[in-house]
Amino acid sequence: MTSSSSAARAAKILSRPAVLGGLTVPNRIVMAPMTRMFSPGGVPGADVAAYYARRAAAGVGLIVTEGTYVDHESAGQSDSVPRFHGEEQLAGWAKVAEAVHAVGGRIVPQLWHIGMVRSAGQPPFADAPAVGPSGIRLDGTEGVGRAMTQQDLDDVIAAFARGAADAERIGFDGVELHGAHGYLIDQFLWSGTNRRADGYGGDPAARTRFGAEIVAAVRAAVSPDFPVIFRFSQWKSDNYDARLAHTPAELDALLAPLAEAGVDAFHASTRRYWLPEFDGSELNLAGWTRKLTGKPVITVGSIGLDGDFIRGFQGEGAPVRGIDDLLDRLERDEFDLVAVGRALLQDPEWAAKVLAGRFDELAPYHPAAMRSLV
Ligand SMILES: Cc1cc2nc3c(=O)[nH]c(=O)nc-3n(C[C@H](O)[C@H](O)[C@H](O)COP(=O)(O)O)c2cc1C
Repeated sequence: MTSSSSAARAAKILSRPAVLGGLTVPNRIVMAPMTRMFSPGGVPGADVAAYYARRAAAGVGLIVTEGTYVDHESAGQSDSVPRFHGEEQLAGWAKVAEAVHAVGGRIVPQLWHIGMVRSAGQPPFADAPAVGPSGIRLDGTEGVGRAMTQQDLDDVIAAFARGAADAERIGFDGVELHGAHGYLIDQFLWSGTNRRADGYGGDPAARTRFGAEIVAAVRAAVSPDFPVIFRFSQWKSDNYDARLAHTPAELDALLAPLAEAGVDAFHASTRRYWLPEFDGSELNLAGWTRKLTGKPVITVGSIGLDGDFIRGFQGEGAPVRGIDDLLDRLERDEFDLVAVGRALLQDPEWAAKVLAGRFDELAPYHPAAMRSLV
């Protein structure tokens, strides 16, 4: 396949709209949620609004914001991660949504609770304990935080629901619930951190109960057509080999209650989107999620990271796939949308360049991009 025919295919396939609940996304490109820590006091400022608006103006179909803490004292551990509660913080977020809408974009906040990842004494609420399903950290250590009581569960469920209602009230286009990477909701989903014997732990259906109750409460707190996206992953932030589900049947048992509770779309987080998830099929995690739930699914993982993205590239270690592989999979409806993380940090114009086939103008990714809010 030549580069010019790839350009024409990319324009055609990526420019198709996608529907998530009541939201029509004008193309298939999503900005992946990325923690930036540029919001002192948890307040996203004008620089954060401009950062998101730049990407929206350059054609990103849907922006998922960096993870933002829900209204619970143990939700986070940084004063520069934006919070999704408090008058000043929500006023800052309203301006972010307004700036993105002003240039024709769409944006959803990613609602986040870090659970047992929290360290003692950290801001914004220094005295708050780390809480999680069983008081077990991702590395298996115990004794640092505590297992959540029924009251804790109710409080956190209510905090997510409040966050979603606020998101709708201040003008966002939907919400994404952060159920991935070893944070609180994922700590329930994963048997490594969940030893509960009270109906919230045990088999996959029990481990997904807390997430499903959050989804149901969120669903009840917003309009019926307000999109609810659920992000999940097999991998954890300090354990890339961890797995929630070893078979399609286990994955189905985890996802079906979430879909039933009202998820409009899933965001299946993988580090390399082209890797098959289970033996005997080429489908990736997003592909399996779509097949099992019938819901629209966002894929993610190393898309466009290499300057040679267009031709495909055999780098050191795992080969990075070229755009034709991605387009083939979109064309076969393996998944619906593609989230792009680091490549969009590097190059705010990434979507415009790819949608217009200006592949030769893509800037290769450099980790220095993480240090500024350009
Ligand atoms: C700086 C940085 C911060 C991230 N923060 C979040 C986050 O807040 N929430 C989340 O779900 N994923 C987060 N991720 C993961 C990304 O959303 C994405 O899944 C990952 O970077 C892989 O996509 P990429 O290969 O296109 O970068 C982060 C990634 C990076 C590089």
